[in-house]
Amino acid sequence: MQVVEVIRSKRDGVELPAEALKRFVEDYTAGEVPDYQMSAFLMAVLFRGMTPGELGAWTRAMLHSGQVMDFTDMEGAKVDKHSTGGVGDKVSLILAPLAVVAGLKVPMISGRGLGHTGGTVDKLESIPGFDMKLSTGRFREVIEEVGCGLIRQTGQIAPADQKLYALRDVTGTVRCVPLISSSIMSKKLAEGIDALVLDVKVGSGAFMRTIEEARELADTMISIGDEMGKPVRAVITDMNQPLGLAVGNSLEVIESIEVLKGGGPQDLIDVTLELVAHMLDVKGLLLEGESLEACKQRLDGYLKDGSALEAFRKIIEIHSGDASVCDDPEAVLPGAEHEIQWCAPSSGVITRMQTSDIGMAGVDIGAGRRKKEDEIDYGVGFIFHKKLGDEVKEGDAILTVYYNDDAGLESAFKRFERSIEISADAQSFEAPALIKEVRGA
Ligand code: URA
Repeated sequence: MQVVEVIRSKRDGVELPAEALKRFVEDYTAGEVPDYQMSAFLMAVLFRGMTPGELGAWTRAMLHSGQVMDFTDMEGAKVDKHSTGGVGDKVSLILAPLAVVAGLKVPMISGRGLGHTGGTVDKLESIPGFDMKLSTGRFREVIEEVGCGLIRQTGQIAPADQKLYALRDVTGTVRCVPLISSSIMSKKLAEGIDALVLDVKVGSGAFMRTIEEARELADTMISIGDEMGKPVRAVITDMNQPLGLAVGNSLEVIESIEVLKGGGPQDLIDVTLELVAHMLDVKGLLLEGESLEACKQRLDGYLKDGSALEAFRKIIEIHSGDASVCDDPEAVLPGAEHEIQWCAPSSGVITRMQTSDIGMAGVDIGAGRRKKEDEIDYGVGFIFHKKLGDEVKEGDAILTVYYNDDAGLESAFKRFERSIEISADAQSFEAPALIKEVRGA
């Protein structure tokens, strides 16, 4: 089929043969299909969707556009977690060492932050020396040695996704279930994993704003996993406010280390324990007779007794990072020169946070990037002092902004004014449940 026929068929809702989709992805990755034709196709997908057969063929083609790792000969269960993206989501930094202590191997390909969502690569690279540009050979050695390897997506792994994601970002085609699902699953299936746990975020800071949308995304990724013979479990979690209290790269590393030392915010701990318990359960690795609840308690013990922190130290060392960050994070990590509080403009209960706007306030002050080539400032960000459902008095500090350059401060403050709602008569307001549903394998 000619490219224009592929586009026309999708526009008209005609199911495309697997071979045509495979060829289309291959030719686009090789630079033989121009961006304008791919953009037209992506927009047609946004309106028409994809049939399960089309989605399988499309994802498979994206997966095989690059190297697919094979760790079948490596001992142990290889399980990863992937979050669909949120604000203050530093779960991977705690989850990876915790899963290692619990006996799993964790091969993790991570992304950089874009738009309002943060990325694990940026958080880890705020640790001086931390190198995520490992060759695939070295990635394997690292996993074998310390149980967890972390690399950033390179041109070798799912290169079709790298090109497509950049194009989707500038053509208004990011928020589309088949495109998000194929993007995530093509990268994750290239990691050589035995099973995957997805943290599907729902709410004002997530791609999926309603529970119905989140279920659709979860079920679509689960069905791709089924088709490829990989068990996938999805946990739908709340993203109507930042997770934990810290937003911004160094600040999120500091908060993660607090959790690894047995402290830290409870919502962050709860989501992490839930996900690691499912990583074990999806491979049938709970202890004999152990319930999920008991497993979470056991995992919490690894946070409290310091064993997860020691695993994190080894992970940092093997990635050439400065592991003394575990002892004195503030001394090691880039920081900010200035701080200023944003205070409650009125008294009442915090009933809403437009979390994507809070993420964009982070971009305003340099913590994130608008375009993928933007430089970021690792040291800046926010620490929240209040969460949804908290009562505040006029003038109480809701958050502290840590910044180096005041250029984006005014815009950030405007966003807080717009996005944080305080209601005078909402004493019965309850913050949304954190863990909403578990679906799949
Ligand atoms: N994360 C991804 O990796 N891809 C998407 O399309 C959206 C979120």
